[in-house]
Amino acid sequence: MQSANICVVGVGYVGLIQAVGLASFGLKVTCVDLDARKIAMLEKGIPPIFEEGLEEALREVIARGRVTFTTEIAAAGDCDLFFVAVGTPTSERTGNARLDYLDAAVSGIAAIARPEAVIAVKSTVPIGTCARLQARLDRDFAGKHLEIVSNPEFLREGTALNDFFNPERIVIGGNSEAARDKVRQSYAAFEDRGVPMIVSDTSTSETIKYAANAFLATKVTFINEISDLVETVGGDIDQVARGIGLDSRIGPQFLKAGPGYGGSCFPKDTLALATIGRRHGVQQQIVETVIRINDSRRFHILKRIESAMGDKLAGKRVAVLGLAFKANTDDVRDSPAVDIVHALLEEGAEVRSFDPVAKLSVDHRCYRQCESIAAACEGASAVLVATEWGEFRSFDFASVEPLVERRYIFDMRRVVDITAAWVPRWDIERIGSPLMRATGEAS
Ligand code: UDX
Repeated sequence: MQSANICVVGVGYVGLIQAVGLASFGLKVTCVDLDARKIAMLEKGIPPIFEEGLEEALREVIARGRVTFTTEIAAAGDCDLFFVAVGTPTSERTGNARLDYLDAAVSGIAAIARPEAVIAVKSTVPIGTCARLQARLDRDFAGKHLEIVSNPEFLREGTALNDFFNPERIVIGGNSEAARDKVRQSYAAFEDRGVPMIVSDTSTSETIKYAANAFLATKVTFINEISDLVETVGGDIDQVARGIGLDSRIGPQFLKAGPGYGGSCFPKDTLALATIGRRHGVQQQIVETVIRINDSRRFHILKRIESAMGDKLAGKRVAVLGLAFKANTDDVRDSPAVDIVHALLEEGAEVRSFDPVAKLSVDHRCYRQCESIAAACEGASAVLVATEWGEFRSFDFASVEPLVERRYIFDMRRVVDITAAWVPRWDIERIGSPLMRATGEAS
């Protein structure tokens, strides 16, 4: 492995995985972030996010002296390859991705970088952003010949480190061959293993990222609509998903019916793609429809819970199991569970939640976070399973029967074991299935 000097700017979720991953390959990585608190934590080997295996991997590369952390971009003056992974949040006003952090980061790099350095953009950015940044560098730093390359990430929260080490493809977009090659070399370990490299121009690369996330969001939304149909006409949505997923043209992944997609990427990226389409006069009608259906899904779920509770939520206590937007992460950004908590509180319900990892900052006299499933279920007229954590799958709800006000479960994730002995004593509603009324008989 050649020894490139690499800098990662923005050590949030994506940047930190990138830095630790490349350092594990033996490359020397300088990490820069404006957040001094975060840098101080990282220096001690403490990752600011919860991610399987990350802490061990971080400590290992620190111990080997392969990674350093700083708030000063000037410390990266000897680097020849910069990965930028700063946030591009959605602007509430326009729906566009906000690029001020990215612009500031690229300017900061350009000011200290040595000539011919390459700046690879890992942040998800509107199509055309890299071309715009390149034009700016050519104008403001003409003598330096700095090159912008687009290099999107495809990491899933919860499995990000594993995804980094086992990519299905690497996407590199740039307008100069030398710049693309420099980025490509940092992934030499993958290329040696036969991982496909999609090498193109910046616009193609930027589009791949949005199209991939929009397609997956569409797949989730599609199975959710079919699940609504199955709920009414009868059938088993999991078997339907399996039946179509075994067709290799469709594939089995992202066909799990649930409360709709959430998290820090799908909602933001689908909205950005729709906005880009409109701006260019090429409306992305499928994506726009997907966004609309996904947004209304949480509201429909609430209506279903409400009707099962006699149309009155006010004064009733509801247990919400799970807050994270999906299992194995502490991320609550755009989480369906969190939206449901807020909606329940607005309807006057009293909410008690439990999540094994995620925490929520809601200051409301009718809201309490509990330390166990049992504590959350105390006095509950409804138990909602909102995140697919493993411990909800195997939980013996017989143990909370003496605690609940009513034996009613709404399973938004279809994880509760409906073959368990306690099931006949409960009213159970699941996404994709009609209400199963308690028969009272033990199975
Ligand atoms: C996603 C992309 O997968 C990743 O490639 C990209 O880089 C970032 O965005 P992430 O946001 O971590 O990753 O979550 P992911 O596992 O893809 O799930 C997205 C949403 O879809 C979640 O809300 C999840 O619950 C939902 N989902 C996913 C389903 O409802 N059903 C499924 O079958 C799959």
